[in-house]
Parts: sequence; structure tokens; C-alpha cells
Amino acid sequence: MRVICTNNYEAMSRAAAAVMAAQIIAKPDSVLGLATGSSPIGLYQDLIAGCKAGDLDFSRITTVNLDEYAGLPGTHDQSYRYFMDHNLFDHVNIDIARTNVPSGVAPDPQAECERYEALLRKLGPADIQLLGMGRNGHIGFNEPDDHFTAPTHVVELTASTIEANARFFASADQVPKKALTMGVGAIMRAKRVLVVVSGPDKAQAVRDAFAGPITPQVPASILQLHPDVVLAGDKAALEGLIEAGVSVCG
Ligand code: GLP
Repeated sequence: MRVICTNNYEAMSRAAAAVMAAQIIAKPDSVLGLATGSSPIGLYQDLIAGCKAGDLDFSRITTVNLDEYAGLPGTHDQSYRYFMDHNLFDHVNIDIARTNVPSGVAPDPQAECERYEALLRKLGPADIQLLGMGRNGHIGFNEPDDHFTAPTHVVELTASTIEANARFFASADQVPKKALTMGVGAIMRAKRVLVVVSGPDKAQAVRDAFAGPITPQVPASILQLHPDVVLAGDKAALEGLIEAGVSVCG
């Protein structure tokens, strides 16, 4: 694992965007695995700036997103399809038909998971998979559990995730209780994984994930077995790792 330690969110976003931009330049028809949440917003803004400056061309890029809330249509302002359109896709020259997010309103969520998993298999491993991390160590919506789940699946969100994500909704009871998420299988098949973390709220999860045992109780800990992980964080989020003696640069 390579750890890029920066002073703050803006510097973390810039460093992580550079990794993503390098991938787009090196392989203009890359499959990018994308993530939502507040952590990657700055990275997306940097990519938009790169595209507007003429440095980045998204015309042959394909994207696969990690997850979607069950029950929210793509027009709902808290759906992850809406997030992606507004924070990235509407501002770059991507072919929207090549952007993929699981549907939150498919009549049969299990069938939608199977469709999405088949799509992931057809597209092949993501060239790079971007991940944020939940405060409980979740990736995508792979929540702490007593086993890892490999394929795309329907998940019951934990109370801590509902509470953490309530800040985006009018109240906690409006946060959907279920989601559809890529499993750890497709995440681990990605050729490279780029994790972005910022702020003291993530410090414990980062330490548990990368300096603790590999356990489904900390879903991100499976990344210790991935051969090419880049962890970009600010000092506040990486503090626990630094204390644990993990070597960092930046
Ligand atoms: C949600 C998403 C995750 C994201 C996490 C952290 O639960 N499903 O993919 O990593 O939130 O979000 P934030 O970056 O806002 O802390």
C-alpha cells in the first residue's frame, strides 16, 4: 500500500485526483469505479477542472458506481445517481450511457443486483476503484458483518451509517434503511484501489482497516490483501496509522 499524507482536504483531493487523472491519460478507455460521499467531492472538482482545461478526455471512459439507496429514484437529490450527475457527469464530456449506477427503484432489488453483477463481469475489472470509508470501516455499503459478501447485494444499513448519513436528509428517519452495493468481490478485482479519507472522524476506521486484523467486522480491512492500494488522506485521518508505525509519504 502507498499512503499519501497531506495537510488538509484540498491537498488530499488534489493528490488523489492526480492519481485518477494519470489513469485517464494512460488509458483513455478506462473503466473507473466511482464512489459518492463528501470525501471524493474535491477530487471530482479537480477532474472537472482538468477536463475543462482540455487535459482530461472522458469521451471513452466507462464508469461503475459502488452503490445506491434502495427506494430512491435517480431524480431524488440524495440518490447516488443524482450525486454523480451533479458532482461529475454533467460537467465533463462523458457519454452518460457509459455511466452505471445500480437502480434504487428496480421492482426486484435482488434481480437488479444480479443484473449489476453481470454488467461488472462483462466490463471486466475496474482499472481503478475509488473508495471513501464509513466511520465503521464500511466500503461502498458493505457494512460490518460476520462474513464478507463478494457479489452485488442488498444490504440493511447499520444504525451508525444511517446516523452518519442523516446529515444529508431532513431527518434520520428519511434515510433509506436498505441499499444495493457492489460486494467486496468487484472491489478486490479492481486493478488499483484509491481510498480517500479526511478528518478526525475517520482516524479510528483507517487505523482498524489498515493496521488491524483482516475481519468482515471492518470491511475495508480486506484491502490489506489487495496488491495495489493508494490511500490518500489528510493528517487528521491518517494519525492513527502514523502512530501504528505505517510508513507514509507526502
Ligand atoms: C456512504 C457511501 C460510502 C462512503 C461513505 C462515507 O455511506 N455509501 O461509499 O464512503 O458514505 O462518506 P463520507 O465521504 O461523506 O464520509
